[in-house]
Amino acid sequence: MGDIISLQDIELSFGQEVIYDRISFSVREGEFLCVLGPSGCGKSTLLRIVGDLLPVDSGIVTVDGRSATDAWQEIAYVFQSPRLLPWRNALENVALARQLRFGRQTSKARNLEVSRALLELVGLENDAHKMPHMLSGGERQRVSIARALAVEPRIILMDEPFSALDVNTRRRMRTEIVDIWKKTGKSIVFVTHEIDEAIELADRIVILSSKPASTREIVDVTAPRPRHATSPGMQAVRQHLSGLLGVAPDAEPPLH
Ligand SMILES: Nc1ncnc2c1ncn2[C@@H]1O[C@H](COP(=O)(O)OP(=O)(O)OP(=O)(O)O)[C@@H](O)[C@H]1O
Ligand SMILES: [Mg+2]
Repeated sequence: MGDIISLQDIELSFGQEVIYDRISFSVREGEFLCVLGPSGCGKSTLLRIVGDLLPVDSGIVTVDGRSATDAWQEIAYVFQSPRLLPWRNALENVALARQLRFGRQTSKARNLEVSRALLELVGLENDAHKMPHMLSGGERQRVSIARALAVEPRIILMDEPFSALDVNTRRRMRTEIVDIWKKTGKSIVFVTHEIDEAIELADRIVILSSKPASTREIVDVTAPRPRHATSPGMQAVRQHLSGLLGVAPDAEPPLH
């Protein structure tokens, strides 16, 4: 399949500070791509560039063969914190995203119907009426995944979406996002600074160096899912990635 996102020789500075020293990579249609790099190297900034929230100094960004400005409708975000409206319940939070994106092209009844189906997809069919403060952290993040899907994007940009969750919830969410990706066929760009998370999720991992960041390497992960990063078969890629990043592999406790 072809590339749905392409970044070529991206350079960016904020004032005197050089953030990127020529970043290049592409995302294939339908791919689960992880961007892995140390804190502060510019991972979140990269998602802002792809989403046309930030212009680059030089280089070429294309989304679905067009400029990022023309293709914004293909994209939805899932942030580290869910950013739900506290005075709307789960269903209304998802439906609002459709209302804002599609306006009069769709009806309220249709928005609610699609939103209900998406809450079911993320495992919240019985929680649609709950206000955000009644939901657990993992449930809130599921609502934000449903909200991203609600705008019918082809690409979902995810910025460390599970990093605020406890270890067991995080593990469950990783399994579920792979299921959702398989069911929906979206292209996913998932930012993380955890080696194990990237190994468990990605088709390919783009490794960024520390600032000023460049693309250090793009690593294919071909092992079938579900994967567990600490299983013997994953040790070679784990060692390789930690060598590239110059850190010890993440030490997550074993599953209980
Ligand atoms: N609007 C801005 N003005 C000035 N500097 C900025 C701006 N936005 C980001 N930066 C700087 O750019 C660098 C990259 O920031 P970014 O948030 O993309 O990093 P990150 O890789 O997502 O880090 P983390 O893993 O901690 O989330 C940081 O040094 C940050 O201070
Ligand atoms: Mg970030």
